Amino acid sequence: MDRLDGHAHLMIVSDLDYTMVDHDDQENLSLLRFNALWESDYRHNSLVVFSTGRSPMMYKQLRKEKPLLTPDITIMSVGTEITYGESMVPDDGWEQYLNHKWDRDVVLEETAKFPQLSFQSSTEQRPHKVSFFIQKGYAEEVMKSLSELLVNRGLDVKIIYSGGICLDILPLGAGKGEALAYLHKKFKADGKLPTNTLVCGDSGNDTELFSVPDVYGVVVSNAHEELLKWYAQNSKDNPKIIHATERCAAGIIQAIGHFGIGPNISPRDVVNSGFKIKSFNPGHEIVMFYLLYERWRRAEVENSDLTIHNMISITHPSGILVHPSGVEHSILECIDTLVPCYGDKRGKQFRVWVDRVSSSQISSDSWLVKFDKWELSDEGRHCCLTTVLLNSKPETPKGFALVNVHQTWLDGYAAGDHTTWIF
Ligand code: GLC
Ligand code: MG
Repeated sequence: MDRLDGHAHLMIVSDLDYTMVDHDDQENLSLLRFNALWESDYRHNSLVVFSTGRSPMMYKQLRKEKPLLTPDITIMSVGTEITYGESMVPDDGWEQYLNHKWDRDVVLEETAKFPQLSFQSSTEQRPHKVSFFIQKGYAEEVMKSLSELLVNRGLDVKIIYSGGICLDILPLGAGKGEALAYLHKKFKADGKLPTNTLVCGDSGNDTELFSVPDVYGVVVSNAHEELLKWYAQNSKDNPKIIHATERCAAGIIQAIGHFGIGPNISPRDVVNSGFKIKSFNPGHEIVMFYLLYERWRRAEVENSDLTIHNMISITHPSGILVHPSGVEHSILECIDTLVPCYGDKRGKQFRVWVDRVSSSQISSDSWLVKFDKWELSDEGRHCCLTTVLLNSKPETPKGFALVNVHQTWLDGYAAGDHTTWIF
């Protein structure tokens, strides 16, 4: 929460499954496009919040499977659990608040009367969330009867149907929208209300996000029937909410452009890095550098002297790379090693992305940039905590040079084949 000094320029509050993450896209291309845009243009002044139906355990599982960035805030279990920062510090106050007129045992007793309901896995049963599967045809009727029974037992609950199969029972004060309203209230009390909030979703449990006051919203193109129905009835004429024509994270990028709330060109959509800069943005340069590295090895840039010259031009002649194994190389030497690797990952799985980019200007002409650098290949997925020292070098096309790159394994990966690790 305190990562930014002032208020956020943009706060994105996004669902994960089939919104940020497209499970039908094995290459994760739209997610990687979003990641590059975020780390290049937003990380330094904005907040990203993941708002998922998943329990903490299933959420962590997804983070292992997909190239998800580290969010500033995580709302889990359909808005019943909120945690802050990368260490996921829970908001105990929120969970206390949800005890109001809530009794799990009573929910279990009453739901047992409905044979149409079948329990989801134990991981998805949480202190303030009881979850079932139910066939579409039964859902409406069961929700109505169940809700009456629970009111009669003195509870205040909310029953949500999502994805045409999942039924969640939560305290009335819970849910993704309530959790966001609570965060807004907290930010406001600190004088840090984000300038813009963009909510993003695809299914029933996302519906209430779109009713939070003053937010922009995007229903991704691939949304489920229950959200589309709600949108048609409630938001079609609301200019702050769109139904994107693009799927998942591509729909989020589309919405940023549609509402004009910030840059919407992902570095991944830029083929020629256009070696001219308007104002120096260290995050952008780091994203572009690793993208060039990925594209070189995938043979997606031209294998030309100009490309190599461009890489060399952003290298300080005495620049040093401290390899995670502790070995030091000159950066120029690393570029020499990279040249013959052109296309060695062609047709193979190979993606590079950065997360948690933060930079600080440490003198009139130098910046220290820290980030997690991820590399996914057929050999697995590995992360290096990387520190880069950039020096301004007005005579170069980019106006800066890499002086020192220092990497540390973040995931205990120490053996491995270091000879294939270049940057
Ligand atoms: C996620 C959760 C599940 C919930 C569903 C809809 O899939 O794992 O428990 O029912 O979201 O909210
Ligand atoms: Mg979803």
